[in-house]
Amino acid sequence: MTVATAVAGTNIALVKYWGKRDEALNLPATGSLSLTLDHLGTRTRVAFDGGDGAGDRLTLNGSRADGKTAARVSVFLDRVRARAGIDTPATVVTDNSVPTASGLASSASGFAALTVAATRAAGLDLAPVELSALARLGSGSAARSIFGGFVEMARGTRADGTDSTAHPLDAQGQGPRANAWNLRLVVAITAAGEKSLGSTAAMTRTARTSPFYEAWIGSVDRDLAEARAAIAKRDLARLGAVAERSALRMHATALAADPPIIYWNPVTVAVMARVRALRDESQGIPAFFTIDAGPHVKVLCNAEDVDRVASALGHVPGVLRTLIAAAGPGARIVEVA
Ligand code: PMV
Repeated sequence: MTVATAVAGTNIALVKYWGKRDEALNLPATGSLSLTLDHLGTRTRVAFDGGDGAGDRLTLNGSRADGKTAARVSVFLDRVRARAGIDTPATVVTDNSVPTASGLASSASGFAALTVAATRAAGLDLAPVELSALARLGSGSAARSIFGGFVEMARGTRADGTDSTAHPLDAQGQGPRANAWNLRLVVAITAAGEKSLGSTAAMTRTARTSPFYEAWIGSVDRDLAEARAAIAKRDLARLGAVAERSALRMHATALAADPPIIYWNPVTVAVMARVRALRDESQGIPAFFTIDAGPHVKVLCNAEDVDRVASALGHVPGVLRTLIAAAGPGARIVEVA
C-alpha cells in the first residue's frame, strides 16, 4: 500500500471564473487566469487502506469531517478509484494553511493536493494536464493550482471536458517566470468565520437570474487577452487594471442576481478605497485589488512595496489581519511511503 502526501498552493484569479457551461463536469463558461501562491495552501496525505471500515475517513484541520465536505471528497475519490480499478476506501488527512471556506480559495489548493496525493496513492501516473482535468472535477479553480506561477484555464469546447484544463503561462514562453517577476499578494482578512454562499450555488443562481450574466460572459475573453499581454510585458499597472475590473464585473453580475449575492462587508469596501488612495498618493504605490466569493480583499503589488501595503491595509478599521504571499510552484508530491 502506498501512502502519498502532496502539497498545493492556493491560487488567486486575476481574470475570474464565474459560471459553468456544465455543472456535472464542472466545465467553466469562460477561461480564467490566476497566480498560484507559495505558502498559502494545503497538505494532504492519502492511503487506500480501508478507511474506517465502512467508507472513507477524512480528517480536516485535525478534526474528523463528515457531512457535505466528506461526501464531496468521497465522490472525488470514487473517480480516482474508478480510474485505478480499485474499490478500497481511503484515509485522507488534510491541513489548510488558509482559513477553510472563507473565500480564500481553500478548495483550489485542497482539490489540487487531493488529486496529486490520491492518484499517486492509487498507483496512477497521470500527466499534469490529466491531473488538471481531474482536479477540475473537484473544484473548478483547483485545475489551476496543479501548475505554478501564472496559469491560464481554458474554457474548452468539448462536452467531455478533456480540453477544459489549465496550463502554465511561464512554461510556454508567454510570460516571464512568475518568480522572476517579484510580485506579492497581500490578503486583508475582513471577517471571521465561513462564507455565506458557496461558489457553485452562487454561480448557478447568477447564471439563472442575473440580467448581467450574458454580458459578463461576453467580457472575459478580452480581459484574458489583456492579462496575457500585461504578463508578457511585466506591466503591473496594466495587469492590475484588468484584475480590478474582472473582480468588480464578477461581483456586479452576482449582485444583480435574484436574490442578490453580496459577498462584501463595509470593511471590504474600505479596503478597496484604501488601495485606490495608496495609488493616488503623491508617492503613489502601484497596488491593485481583487475579491473572490467572500469578503476578503487580495492586493497585488511589487515586492519592494509589500510592507507599506500590508501596513496600510492592516490599519484599515475592521481588518483582522493581513497575510503576505508570493508566487509559488504547482501541486507536487512531497512524501511517498
Ligand atoms: O473553484 P470554485 O468552484 O470554488 O470557484 C472559484 C470562484 C472564484 O474564486 C470566485 C473565482 C476564481 O476564478 O477562482
